[in-house]
Amino acid sequence: MSPPPTATKFKNPRARYNFQGRTCSITGVGSYLPAKVLTNAELEKMVDTSDEWITTRTGIKERRLAAKDEFTSDLAAHAARRAMERAGVTAEQVDLIIVATITPDMPFPSTACLVQRKLGARRAAAFDLEAACSGFIYGLEVAQQFIMSRTYDTVLVIGAEKLSSIVDWQDRNTCVLFGDGAGAAVLQNRPQAHGLLTAVMGADGTKSDLLFMPGGGSSCPATAASVSSRLHYLRMEGKETFKNAIQAMQMAAEEAMRRCEIDITRIKCIIPHQANRRIIDAVGERLGATPEQLFINVHRCGNTSAASVAIALDEAVTTGKVQRGDLILMIVFGAGLTWGAAVIEW
Ligand code: ACO
Repeated sequence: MSPPPTATKFKNPRARYNFQGRTCSITGVGSYLPAKVLTNAELEKMVDTSDEWITTRTGIKERRLAAKDEFTSDLAAHAARRAMERAGVTAEQVDLIIVATITPDMPFPSTACLVQRKLGARRAAAFDLEAACSGFIYGLEVAQQFIMSRTYDTVLVIGAEKLSSIVDWQDRNTCVLFGDGAGAAVLQNRPQAHGLLTAVMGADGTKSDLLFMPGGGSSCPATAASVSSRLHYLRMEGKETFKNAIQAMQMAAEEAMRRCEIDITRIKCIIPHQANRRIIDAVGERLGATPEQLFINVHRCGNTSAASVAIALDEAVTTGKVQRGDLILMIVFGAGLTWGAAVIEW
């Protein structure tokens, strides 16, 4: 007689390192979207575009914009408080805060330090992580190293962006794509689950000029000339970025599943970076996913870079799309170029 099916029918790639029962799980998630909605109809009045073009080329119908006096650290702190509440974690318990962002409040101090102050998480170490749209998965992987090594017990990973502050509102090629928001996760050891099973991370700096912001760093500090040349806005080679995104996301997702010795049918919910509906559909198709497996909110949020999959994860959880025990596949891609994928036992 064949043995009854066991609950764990996947491989935990981390088990071979003998962490003696230590796991890294997400014990709470939260997200925050600013109140102001910018619709495609409103964009039609700002640049030479149309709802029809934006909808068919990107799937985006609206995006959220932070208020003038609402900064990345504010969005991050709102999302973090929600995640901490769900995890039942107080500010005193947080050991480390990682903020993934390309739109810090200012070049320094880190946005993570500003969030630490806003949360009152006095014990926590804090730093920013910059991997553009891939930042949240990079952050999860970094956080889990601290948890598995027993350096820390409670780590807050936040993806937060005020992209409206670096978008050129005169450039129709880019301004229709982006939005503001934040998502957060509390990571802890949770002995009764496997948690973050694996995270694939990759980068290709030879393609850094596909998506970048030329001004504001050490290579091009702000001058009157740099500002008048609009160098402090993001620039993107859309078509090339599009092609690279599909290839890299497919590759990363397949590698993550290979490590866990599972195929796509085992995944309950796929959370891809929400940049463009066409990219999401193409990646889903290449992976052999069903439409029901894909979580999509790009029509409401646009591309929120490092916040994107963090917001989507929170929405997938709060809407009941994933339940404890389900497997989640997160897939990201962004400037750098960077990419990543993670398999999580929820
Ligand atoms: N409204 C109307 N027309 C437009 C608009 C607009 N908003 N934007 C561009 N067009 C025009 C172009 O000028 C071009 O006109 P032309 O043919 O006369 O020159 C035409 O539409 C087609 O432009 P394409 O660039 O070929 O359009 P494409 O189908 O490639 O879609 C898009 C463009 C949406 C930007 C797509 O390439 C894309 O999504 N790229 C990837 C973005 C991404 O994944 N980013 C991830 C990382 S983001 C991060 O890390 C911060």
